[in-house]
Amino acid sequence: MELSIVKNYEELSQRAANKVIAIAESTDQPINISIPAGRTPKGMYHDLVDYVKDHPGCFDHISWYTLDEYINIPKGSALSCLTKLTHLFYEPAGIKKDKIFSFNTEAEDFNKEAERIEALISETGGLRLSILGIGRNGHVGFNEPGSERDSRTRVMTLQAKTLEQSKVYFTEDVLPPKEGITLGIQTLLESEEILLFANSTEKEAIIHEVVEGDISPQVPASFFRESPKAELIIDEEAAKRLSVRK
Ligand code: GLP
Repeated sequence: MELSIVKNYEELSQRAANKVIAIAESTDQPINISIPAGRTPKGMYHDLVDYVKDHPGCFDHISWYTLDEYINIPKGSALSCLTKLTHLFYEPAGIKKDKIFSFNTEAEDFNKEAERIEALISETGGLRLSILGIGRNGHVGFNEPGSERDSRTRVMTLQAKTLEQSKVYFTEDVLPPKEGITLGIQTLLESEEILLFANSTEKEAIIHEVVEGDISPQVPASFFRESPKAELIIDEEAAKRLSVRK
């Protein structure tokens, strides 16, 4: 994994957006990219929306996959990651509906739903890029601590720290659902490129573990450290506890 430490959130967002743009511009063949909700990618989406306004059609060959999603919530719920991605990115960037792939939050059988998305990705050439935020407990997507390296797309019970962290996403007096569905660690490791990013002092402890701690299911993001296809971009605040900064 390549580690890049940048000055601040603006720079981190621009770097992440530039990676997406470079990949988009490198080909006119159809490609798949998986993207997260959460706070970390907001600046990147803002920059991507700015870019597409000046370069109409530049993302037309990209199919976008939602990295993870809450389950057993109504379609279109404000809680849904797809709803957030729609507001932040799909709508303002003019991404067409047939290029947006997401988990059905109302599926009858979520194991089958996981298989459906996994099959869709592999049948269409795999993921060209996966973009991953990092939870304060080291999760990526909803791959919670305890997730194995060879895990594939599946349903997960969310842990207390994740539920606590998730509260900040919701303005209404509604607790986030306790279960989610997520692309698996192995599914993500098979991407041609993987971009992880994290900012702010809130992430300094987990970034220390991801970069300098044990590689273990207890810190799912640590599995990406061994991948030469992965890049971790962090700002100076998130890098504070790293020995390379001392
Ligand atoms: C959440 C989401 C992930 C997100 C991560 C980090 O629980 N399920 O998709 O990437 O945690 O969130 P944030 O970027 O808000 O710190």
